[in-house]
Amino acid sequence: MIRVLFVCLGNICRSPMAEAVFRDLVKKKNLQHIIEIDSAGTGNYHIGKSPHKGTLHILEQNSISSEGMKARQVKEEDLGNFDYIIGMDAENIGNLHRLARYNKTGYIGRLLDFVPQGKVDDVPDPYFTGNFEEVYDLVKEGCARLLDEIILKDLKKEEIQ
Ligand code: 4NP
Repeated sequence: MIRVLFVCLGNICRSPMAEAVFRDLVKKKNLQHIIEIDSAGTGNYHIGKSPHKGTLHILEQNSISSEGMKARQVKEEDLGNFDYIIGMDAENIGNLHRLARYNKTGYIGRLLDFVPQGKVDDVPDPYFTGNFEEVYDLVKEGCARLLDEIILKDLKKEEIQ
């Protein structure tokens, strides 16, 4: 099993969007029995809340399920339990490294690091910009590249149908 955790600040805008988009891509490749997906926030402001209406709206527009998602805060043990801990921006990555201290963790990196020659490195926070379309396009590209990388690196040929 490969475990992927998407992380942003509030876990209501970007990381739930990435979780839903990535789950949709994984399902379309019939890899849902091999790849486990979750999301969390470094902050505790919105614990237990549903995703932001902007995130819900764009997912619905693109026929992607947002069922059952509730915000939670990232825990120290997540860092050892997940193989890929994917932050949306540099601040998330700094917070994740601080939480990890010197413990062994899965890979910690930014989503857009998987996009070669991308225009931006951080997924902008739509909670402040209001631009959920821009975020959706970046998240979609990043998730597609991340899945390509996981397939290439981690999955044995016979597991791919
Ligand atoms: P997210 O956006 O990190 O993409 O979920 C945010 C949501 C809420 C807040 C900040 C960012 N907040 O400060 O409440």
